[in-house]
Amino acid sequence: MKSVAFAVGLLATGGTAFAAPASALNYPTNSTRPGLNSLMKLNDGRYFGTAASTVHFNDSKWLSVLQDSDMFGSMTPENSQKWEATEPERGVFDFAAADLNVQKAQEAGQMVRCHTLIWYNALPDWITSQTWTNETLIAVMENHIKEVVTHFKGQCYSWDVVNEAVNDDGSYRETIWYNTIGPEYIAMAYNMVAKYDPDAKLYYNDYGIEFINNKTLGAIALVKDLKEKGVKVDGVGIQGHYPVVLAPSYEDQVEVLQRFADLGVEVATTELDVFVEIPEKVEQVEMQTAIYADSVRACVDVPACVGVTVWGFYDPYSWVPGTVPGYGNADLFWANWTAKPAYDAIVNALLPKE
Ligand code: G3I
Repeated sequence: MKSVAFAVGLLATGGTAFAAPASALNYPTNSTRPGLNSLMKLNDGRYFGTAASTVHFNDSKWLSVLQDSDMFGSMTPENSQKWEATEPERGVFDFAAADLNVQKAQEAGQMVRCHTLIWYNALPDWITSQTWTNETLIAVMENHIKEVVTHFKGQCYSWDVVNEAVNDDGSYRETIWYNTIGPEYIAMAYNMVAKYDPDAKLYYNDYGIEFINNKTLGAIALVKDLKEKGVKVDGVGIQGHYPVVLAPSYEDQVEVLQRFADLGVEVATTELDVFVEIPEKVEQVEMQTAIYADSVRACVDVPACVGVTVWGFYDPYSWVPGTVPGYGNADLFWANWTAKPAYDAIVNALLPKE
């Protein structure tokens, strides 16, 4: 049983992008390179998507790859739909960045995985700096969900309604929501979103649930309980943030995806990136290559898995160096825009078998 020590909790010293090995192909200069979404669609119509932050929209090269629907069929706003961005002050809503995220996706004919509503992180000070009663916080939660979900109604394939609500030991994470309202905040959140957008698929999303461990068993129990109560949970996202030294196997991921699917939900890998230690070593790039391919293949081999989203695709714009100490180069393209061997391994995993 692997322990899940998720690297995101570590402090970072930042990473440095390195020149690619000569063997890696170039993209998009190599026009014969197949796009990952076009290949994923060959596998029962699954999608291959990416997260994207509006802060990089002025980088025309990056934007051209982001909006290439041959490459990506889905976009997840990396930060613009989080509470700190959409309701920075109580009752004051700001959708400018999120609307830009959605607009770029719609221009490219991409669907949008909307992210995220109820989380312990990315909350504005007006939420975290005061003491709430059960009633007042429920009212604040409902008003936020009503305004945000109504604003994006019809534009979200799915919502990551509650994000990261379970501890490594399987217990409820003690967030402001849990501590003030109790565990029923979770069902409340899904019921509120379903009220304001009955068509979006409502996901539970978490990290560290890509192997069978206590956290995964806790998340399975959570989703099972919600389903048994008739709460509208349509999907589970396994995030897929993997340090190369702590990644699940293909078999691990197939088992977990199927265990969640057996609850009567669709599943997806929602935030895939595979971080190597910096300075980068060839043997870890080789591990990264295998882990990316295993993760995509695991989704393709589980019928209920609808797609894979990478949490960004260009090393210089990755969240990892600023958050995870000594790790980086987690994405599919190096800083010089050379595609990594992982890209080609995903292509090989997706090509129809003769
Ligand atoms: O926009 C402000 C900017 O005005 C300010 O100058 C700057 C310095 O304080 O901060 C900027 O906000 C940062 C934001 O990213 C936009 O860049 C926040 O500090 C920073 O905490 C935030 O980090 C994001 C993190 O979630 C927390 O929201 C990462 O980019 C994002 O990749 C990461 O993504 C999460 C998923 O949402 C959930 N799963 C885990 C995943 C990785 O942590």
